[in-house]
Amino acid sequence: MKRTLVIGAGGQVGTELVVALRALYGQENVLATDLSTDAAATLGGPFAPLDCTDGEALLAAVRRFRPHTVFHLAALLSVTGEQRPRLAYRVNLGGLVNVLEAARSERSAVFFPSSIASFGPSIPLDRVPQEAAQRPVTMYGITKAAGEMICDFYHLRFGVDTRGVRFPGLISHVAEPGGGTTDYAVDAFREAGGRGAYTCPLRPDTQLDMMYMPDAVRAVIELMEADPRRLAHRNAYNITAMQFTPRMLAAEMRRHLPHFRMDYRVDPLRQGIADSWPRRIDDSVAREEWGWKPEYDLAAMTAEMVANLRRRASASSDAPNPHPTVPR
Ligand code: SER
Repeated sequence: MKRTLVIGAGGQVGTELVVALRALYGQENVLATDLSTDAAATLGGPFAPLDCTDGEALLAAVRRFRPHTVFHLAALLSVTGEQRPRLAYRVNLGGLVNVLEAARSERSAVFFPSSIASFGPSIPLDRVPQEAAQRPVTMYGITKAAGEMICDFYHLRFGVDTRGVRFPGLISHVAEPGGGTTDYAVDAFREAGGRGAYTCPLRPDTQLDMMYMPDAVRAVIELMEADPRRLAHRNAYNITAMQFTPRMLAAEMRRHLPHFRMDYRVDPLRQGIADSWPRRIDDSVAREEWGWKPEYDLAAMTAEMVANLRRRASASSDAPNPHPTVPR
């Protein structure tokens, strides 16, 4: 049975990826690690505290557990990266190099999540192809574009089995994201379940690629299980599932929650970041090379997110302030 080690397991992707990996490979074969020990309680199972910027500790953990694959998910997201560029550089790139060195030493494969943020405004931002100039203008995007190249370097120079995807904005109801530009979509659902209204920091017509977390988790696992002979583009594959604007999201949410309101107070930092990213990426190469295919579009994702809000609302119906706007 495959052994896997997840770094940043307590984050938005990690929380759900760990569950999926444990279902697939067995509880004991998935070591969840995170800087914060709070994640231990949420994730259960084998857990170890780990700071990816500590190369020696990381190598020791990989030596002890001997994973077939390291899933390296620890990173600062786009908004936090603009506010704390040195920390973003240290975690997003320093951490990655530590992972790659450990993987090289212990012969592990590595999954590295890149992002739509690895592209920048110097190219046409509609249907951005797999191979397009990457001139990101955010610190987050710079660490992702450079990370892709460093992963390629470790593959070409040392034979490390590195693979990655360029994730769009990820939407989930399990763990909250933090510090990202596309987080507005998750926040909108959360606020819909709270006060029934959301003030969006992006203009109503800002279109970005998005994906529901079950598709994202499946993409990671399918890519790492794919036949390496088919993978001409390893780091990293464009993948997408849907494109929407805040206005489109609000309209879809109102089909389930007719009283939901979205208003707008544009945050120049977030708007500037979003404007520098693709409106849509072309994921045909991932479809060809490893059979990528999303299952959730805007309608299916919204229906599930609202159903989960309702479940949560009825579970907390005894609480003093239940979610009043979500009909039960
Ligand atoms: N979701 C990320 C962010 O908004 C982009 O990959 O920062």
